[in-house]
Amino acid sequence: MTKKNKKTEMSQEMANVISLCRRRGFIFQSSEIYGGLESCYDYGPMGVELKNNVKKFWWKAMVQLHDNIVGLDAAILMHPRVWEASGHVANFSDPMIDCKKCKRRFRADHLEEGIEKCPVCGGELTEARDFNLMFKTQMGAVTDAASDVYLRPETAQGIFVNFLNVMNSSRQKPPFGIAQIGKAFRNEITPRNFIFRTREFEQAEMQFFVKPGTHQEWFSYWKEHRMQWYLDLGITPEKLHFHQHGPDELAHYADNAFDIEYDFGFGRKELEGIHSRTDFDLSRHQEFSGKKQLYVDPQTKDRFIPYVIETSAGVDRTVLTILTDAYEEEKLEKDTRTVLHLAPAIAPVKAAIFPLVKRDGLPEIAHKLTDDLRKKFMVFYDESGAVGRRYRRQDEAGTPFCITVDSETVEQQTVTIRDRDTMEQIRLPLDKVAGWLDEKITG
Ligand code: GAP
Repeated sequence: MTKKNKKTEMSQEMANVISLCRRRGFIFQSSEIYGGLESCYDYGPMGVELKNNVKKFWWKAMVQLHDNIVGLDAAILMHPRVWEASGHVANFSDPMIDCKKCKRRFRADHLEEGIEKCPVCGGELTEARDFNLMFKTQMGAVTDAASDVYLRPETAQGIFVNFLNVMNSSRQKPPFGIAQIGKAFRNEITPRNFIFRTREFEQAEMQFFVKPGTHQEWFSYWKEHRMQWYLDLGITPEKLHFHQHGPDELAHYADNAFDIEYDFGFGRKELEGIHSRTDFDLSRHQEFSGKKQLYVDPQTKDRFIPYVIETSAGVDRTVLTILTDAYEEEKLEKDTRTVLHLAPAIAPVKAAIFPLVKRDGLPEIAHKLTDDLRKKFMVFYDESGAVGRRYRRQDEAGTPFCITVDSETVEQQTVTIRDRDTMEQIRLPLDKVAGWLDEKITG
């Protein structure tokens, strides 16, 4: 394959996913009717269900299934000193070069070394200068430097500054974790690849506080545990990889770090970072706030600033990975179908219910079944068009099961259930459908 063809094929993968997302109501460009806002996206009816299911899947794995991990929902706006203590004011920047002619902005490390002219228009380039990625805004009516606040660039700091509040109120002690899902904002110089790198995004982070000396053990534990989470989501194992940070890649707070990466069409890219952050954050908050950030063992009186193992995932990147991994244009005997092979646990709609025809009492039975099932699952009733067309619409939306009510339902109280992936159908008594679905979704 020539380089040119390879590039075309890569962008085709993304183009297919973007087109499907728009067509089926997963993701839209923000403010589209005004021409769109670059790098901001809105999740539509299908997208919000998928994203919520991913977040629930994470919350269950990280909080519900661990009695030593508790949740938090901290504010996006925090005291400006937080970002001085965390190092973001001093260090959270990318070197940036501007073109004086076309005004395009480039990350210096994304340009060829020694380049003197703009790669797009040939214009003169500025020197590289540091550009802080935090969004600044003003709080209250008075606009002076004292009212400057930042939109948080990571959710982690909300966890660190609540370490004592949470430990004391929930009677936890190291080893224990605090988990949070929430929005983060970064004024990225080069946002790209749809929802992969955006300026507003969501993180799912967990800080695990441990006794110094036990941190390597816990680091290995969380590294494996987090990889398993992606496998449990049904992501192709061969496309998932670990990447250990070399000494020049390590963040200022980390003594060890691994990324979990995925093979996208546009390259192998980071989905999540697992960092051993030592006592950097708590020590800095102790120094800047003047408040001790210690755990004191009530029996032994042993006291220490805990070390932290962090697992930091991007919710939007996970959604993009799931969609990319699940997308297939499957060649059939006579035509091609587009299908999203989403795991039933995260599929936006679990089952679609179709009356075969709009008469003979079939819609009434199908409506009744829909009402019964929707108490427990997200289901969808559809009576419009040929049943084959209805199947195809659901295949594209990733709905794992289609239930059809036909004349045999009236006579024998049974329905057909069609499997999205195999397209095979089975017959099941009406009163067994809810239990069968439950088993398939949660099993
Ligand atoms: N608290 C540590 C931290 O924020 P990070 O590696 O900068 O670490 C963690 O970010 C994860 O957040 C990334 O692996 C990625 O999934 C997600 N993420 C970071 N920047 C992003 C962006 N601009 N757009 C979408 N997701 C992003």
